[in-house]
Amino acid sequence: MNGKKKKVVLSGMRPTGPLHLGHLTGALRNWIKLQDEYDCFYSIVTWHAFSSEYQNPEAIREYTFEYAADWLSIGLDPDKSVLFIQSEVKEHAELHLLLSMIIPLPWLQRVPTFKEMQREVPDKDLNTYGFLGYPVLQTADIIIYKADVVPVGEDQAFHLELAREITRRFNRLYGNVFPEPQILLTEVPKLAGTDGRKMSNSFGNAIYIKDPPEVIRKKISTMTTDTRRKRRTDPGVPEDCPVFSLHKAFVSKEKRKELAQGCLSAGIGCLECKDVVIERLIDILSPFWEKRKLLEKNPQLVWKILEEGNKKARDVAQKTMKDVRSAIGL
Ligand code: TRP
Ligand code: SF4
Repeated sequence: MNGKKKKVVLSGMRPTGPLHLGHLTGALRNWIKLQDEYDCFYSIVTWHAFSSEYQNPEAIREYTFEYAADWLSIGLDPDKSVLFIQSEVKEHAELHLLLSMIIPLPWLQRVPTFKEMQREVPDKDLNTYGFLGYPVLQTADIIIYKADVVPVGEDQAFHLELAREITRRFNRLYGNVFPEPQILLTEVPKLAGTDGRKMSNSFGNAIYIKDPPEVIRKKISTMTTDTRRKRRTDPGVPEDCPVFSLHKAFVSKEKRKELAQGCLSAGIGCLECKDVVIERLIDILSPFWEKRKLLEKNPQLVWKILEEGNKKARDVAQKTMKDVRSAIGL
């Protein structure tokens, strides 16, 4: 130990559906790596889930457990990182309220996801005060831990820019309370779902981390391939094949090169090519399934770990809120 304080990382996920391979490649693999170098806070952001799922809040609790079980099984380590539930640290709500007073409305009205989500999810009424304030709550999540670094995917870049702007505005008004959080963009190969579109819970095309081997086998063996390969003798182009996006994320470079050549020359069939990634995924996920089974048998352990995380998060958040209240003078 050199006594130097580690930088702080914070990130979060909305518990709105089971975790899939895109979460693994897009976030979790990176989060696991960061654990050794930073003080990490990883939050299950229940209030953010509530902002779109307010008509069906029971699901949020169910997925909170699922997320925690998945996180722990895949390698997030409660001895290294603080794993916690956003809505169990009420200080986020107080900071959100205070920030909401200082943010000019146009800053929020120009957030692209606000309009987009309303268009893409027409069955939910997302034209609400709370949903407009989604990025304000996200800012509170980050700066309440004085986070230096926020690892997120590209889809979150706008929210993070806004978080930085809000932080600057707060500091200008009341003094330097918060570091300006840096964005750590996760470089991710785009992962395709079973229908060839981007893998996403809302498209129903996802391969879940907890899918048993036979389900993984079935989903991948019926997955769309490059349309040029109608017959076994037709050559294909791996770059245009949704299955190959899985190879890029999970299969070694050498093996991939060999398969790509086989595809381009029609030397191998799609089933053979798919088998490689199926077996590889089963290898990678097997230890995860085993750990997860143990946790499912012992749900109290999962809740206990979360409670300990909540407490650690609360300690930090309460300290920050003292600074905030004294800076503002309220
Ligand atoms: N908005 C993020 C998403 O949809 C989730 C999130 C909430 C978050 N609070 C955060 C991410 C704080 C990073 C930091 O993915
Ligand atoms: Fe896709 Fe592999 Fe078939 Fe080529 S051989 S089209 S990369 S599944």
